[in-house]
Amino acid sequence: EGLLGEPRPLAGKKAIVTSGPTHEPIDPVRYIANRSSGKQGHAIAAALARLGAEVTLVSGPVTIPDPAGVSVVRVERAEEMRDAVLAALPADVAVMVAAVADWRVASAAGNKIKKRPGEAPPPLQLAENPDILKTVGHHGARPKLVIGFAAETENVADNGRAKLERKGADYILANDVSPATGIMGGDRNRVKLIGREGSEDWPEMDKDEVAAKLAALIAAKLSA
Ligand code: CTP
Ligand code: CA
Repeated sequence: EGLLGEPRPLAGKKAIVTSGPTHEPIDPVRYIANRSSGKQGHAIAAALARLGAEVTLVSGPVTIPDPAGVSVVRVERAEEMRDAVLAALPADVAVMVAAVADWRVASAAGNKIKKRPGEAPPPLQLAENPDILKTVGHHGARPKLVIGFAAETENVADNGRAKLERKGADYILANDVSPATGIMGGDRNRVKLIGREGSEDWPEMDKDEVAAKLAALIAAKLSA
């Protein structure tokens, strides 16, 4: 337990959390990105630290402050995020919350691309980014618990379960990120926890509360 007598069930456990978007450069001044505030990922890193875990938070570019009590590795691109996550292994649990850009520009321009009067817009050749969750889920040094999110706008349960299988995760927290839900960028979240044994709907709550509930689940599973 901690100094104030609070329970620290994750003391001695190592956690890796990814959060935020990635930025994939088009040229030195432009990029491709997903929408992500980093609120949910940062809250999960903080909740795990509060339970005593040694947390490495690998974060893409966000404007929110670093959570207390975690070591933060700041990255820009998906490939950098993958490298930072692999460098943080081994760990007992990995929670991939980042909204990783699925594609990068195959060869980013070294200089700013200029508009030229009368010329067509430049075509963007894309290349697929590494799937960090899938890499960790199938890694030789796979953490005992591997958890991901599934951002969906339709067929939330089916798409979430397919991601659980494809990526070798133990749990997926699937959420409906349709603009009307206000989840993206907001302080509230409503997720469905999908595991190998089944799934359960969590009621809508603050992202901090989702984080605390997930951290408690992780503590229970790691001590079982
Ligand atoms: N993820 C990842 N690396 C990627 C893409 C996704 O680690 N290159 C992780 C996310 O952090 C999340 C999970 O995989 O935990 C699901 O991300 P999502 O974007 O919902 O799934 P994708 O597999 O990219 O499928 P799609 O975007 O086509 O729905
Ligand atoms: Ca994606």
